Amino acid sequence: MNKPFSQACENNKAPILAQLQRIFKNTEQVLEIGSGTGQHAAFFAPRLPHLLWQTSDLPANHDGIELWLQEAQCDTLLPPLSLDIGEPWPVSQPDGMFTANTLHIVSEALVEAFFAGVSEHLPLHGQLCIYGPFKYQGQFTSASNAQFDAMLKQRDPRSGIREQQWLVALAKQAGLTLIDDVAMPANNQLLHFERTKR
Ligand SMILES: C[S@@+](CC[C@H](N)C(=O)[O-])C[C@H]1O[C@@H](n2cnc3c(N)ncnc32)[C@H](O)[C@@H]1O
Repeated sequence: MNKPFSQACENNKAPILAQLQRIFKNTEQVLEIGSGTGQHAAFFAPRLPHLLWQTSDLPANHDGIELWLQEAQCDTLLPPLSLDIGEPWPVSQPDGMFTANTLHIVSEALVEAFFAGVSEHLPLHGQLCIYGPFKYQGQFTSASNAQFDAMLKQRDPRSGIREQQWLVALAKQAGLTLIDDVAMPANNQLLHFERTKR
């Protein structure tokens, strides 16, 4: 098996890392939800050596993630957990969480389940980063994001680019506050939340 490869990950990994180095400065363990190819984890973990990076995804992606992990040879990079957002999460209390390009793939019900999982497992003062494209007041931030949304919905009507305000509201119910909404290259954003209430 060849390592799975995402050109988007190659393009966005350095700008995302620059944000994570700031946001996870005092974080000890990050749970990544939906690690995908494993490329992000293999790039981030050696560059955030003060923390443990826990990969996770549905089992179908584990072999590919393992290939990237073997190549990275990084002691602080942990093999993938089987974590389905909609099932109980097999984790304890990581003080950081990261997910990229997952909330527009899963259904709205699973987006709600995502925040339920965050609420259950992210301790007070924990940091959450969500990277991807979002809508604001019903508007896409670019024509290419509108086209991407149409393509997603054609493939799976339950998927689609999410409304930032809806995510912020779900986060608030889960005890999190939006700290920053950082504009990223290629019409993406990085939403940074902190757990401020139990
Ligand atoms: C578009 S990919 C993003 C992968 C990677 N984070 C990236 O940025 O390239 C979406 C990911 O969400 C994962 N995913 C889909 N449904 C999921 C679920 N119910 N629970 C956990 N992960 C899920 C997929 O397996 C896939 O890895």
